[in-house]
Amino acid sequence: MRLSHMIASIMMGVTWTQAVKGNQYSLFDFTTASNVDNWSEISDTVRTPGMSKAVLTLQKTQLFQRGIFFTLLNPQPNGAGFAGVRMPTTWDLSGYTNIEIKCRAQGNNEHYKVVLRHKGLASNDDTSYEQTFEVPVTNKEFSTISLPLKNFKPYYRGQEVLNGTPLDTANITTFGLQVFGGVYSPFKQHGVVTQTLFDFTRTDQVSNWTEYSDTVKPAGMSKAVLVIQKTQLVQRAIFFSLFNPRPNKMGFTAVRCDTNFNLQDFNYVTIKCRGQGINLRYKMVLRHRGIIDNNSMVFGQVFTAPENEFSTIKLPLADFKPYYRGRELPVEENPLDLTAITNIGLKVDMGPYLPDNQAGVAALEIDWIKATK
Ligand SMILES: *[C@@H]1O[C@H](CO)[C@@H](O)[C@H](O)[C@H]1NC(C)=O
Ligand SMILES: *[C@@H]1O[C@H](CO)[C@@H](O)[C@H](O)[C@H]1NC(C)=O
Ligand SMILES: *[C@@H]1O[C@H](CO)[C@@H](O)[C@H](O)[C@H]1NC(C)=O
Ligand SMILES: *[C@@H]1O[C@H](CO)[C@@H](O)[C@H](O)[C@H]1NC(C)=O
Repeated sequence: MRLSHMIASIMMGVTWTQAVKGNQYSLFDFTTASNVDNWSEISDTVRTPGMSKAVLTLQKTQLFQRGIFFTLLNPQPNGAGFAGVRMPTTWDLSGYTNIEIKCRAQGNNEHYKVVLRHKGLASNDDTSYEQTFEVPVTNKEFSTISLPLKNFKPYYRGQEVLNGTPLDTANITTFGLQVFGGVYSPFKQHGVVTQTLFDFTRTDQVSNWTEYSDTVKPAGMSKAVLVIQKTQLVQRAIFFSLFNPRPNKMGFTAVRCDTNFNLQDFNYVTIKCRGQGINLRYKMVLRHRGIIDNNSMVFGQVFTAPENEFSTIKLPLADFKPYYRGRELPVEENPLDLTAITNIGLKVDMGPYLPDNQAGVAALEIDWIKATK
């Protein structure tokens, strides 16, 4: 459904962009700008089959002002397509390390791209310098996205130019923002930015997810199940848990799935979810090659599900800590083998790292779980 011929209406509220080292240099401050006249659209409609649209506009309320980047992405069947805006600049950022953008996204696209050009080279046949980033989809807080200047890579007509001329950060002459087509398929083809681990909006196969709860022990009384919810409008998975710890707070309830993922090129496991019920704190549990015994070490990380709106939570792979029977082990001696993640689980318990959890029923609604950079 989202793969091709996608029509997405996307909104990114941008409050400012600035270059950062120790000092900050404001590149464009939408909270104070009187207009956005210097920005112009550059979308795939420069090519014959293009059908996309972008507009950058100032939103001025009684209380605040910011920029909104509206896009309508209508990719070609092969996923090609983009919608963007750009602005001429005369920036010398050679003394800076990052470009920061304070933003949030709404709608169904969280993948954006900053496109820089240098030395006045602005035609379609000139090299552009690009970096993709993900914006949390939320109607709440803004996040600050940090784009290292050294990560802008040369591109020619959508393809990275290996060993191309590097960006001259002292002479940046165009700054552009883009959403781009395909959204899912190009990532799968190139495996660059995102790998979908589980997309419950598009599969109803969850029989691989099995329960592993304290009922494996005589005194256990908890229960968990992962099911697909299909409404008239959406589809997603729900992890229902009934957590019944013993008086000494022992107990757990979990679901897990055998996998065969190599995540060594990624930095995060990202989950789009929402929590309801008594517990909002969950642990994601990873096992790697060689961990077979149920009582062996696992790698865990706690996260708090957002309560009202679905949002995207990024769990740094580096923060999965080794545990043995609830006790944390030294990470140096027990590194996670990212090349062979053999099991992923979601768990509710009351371990030392989840002291706030309570007995009762909770639901974690999950759209998808991805590996991201
Ligand atoms: C717009 O461009 C003009 C000419 O390049 C420049 O003087 C002006 O500062 C720019 N305005 C903003 C808000 O960047
Ligand atoms: C930027 O590059 C252009 C083209 O090489 C050159 O004409 C211009 O003088 C440069 N500007 C600066 C500030 O170095
Ligand atoms: C379920 O597991 C089987 C066997 O391990 C695997 O072939 C299949 O791809 C899995 N399905 C999903 C949806 O993960
Ligand atoms: C781990 O526990 C599950 C559920 O009780 C059981 O089916 C499986 O055989 C156990 N694995 C091993 C290696 O003991």
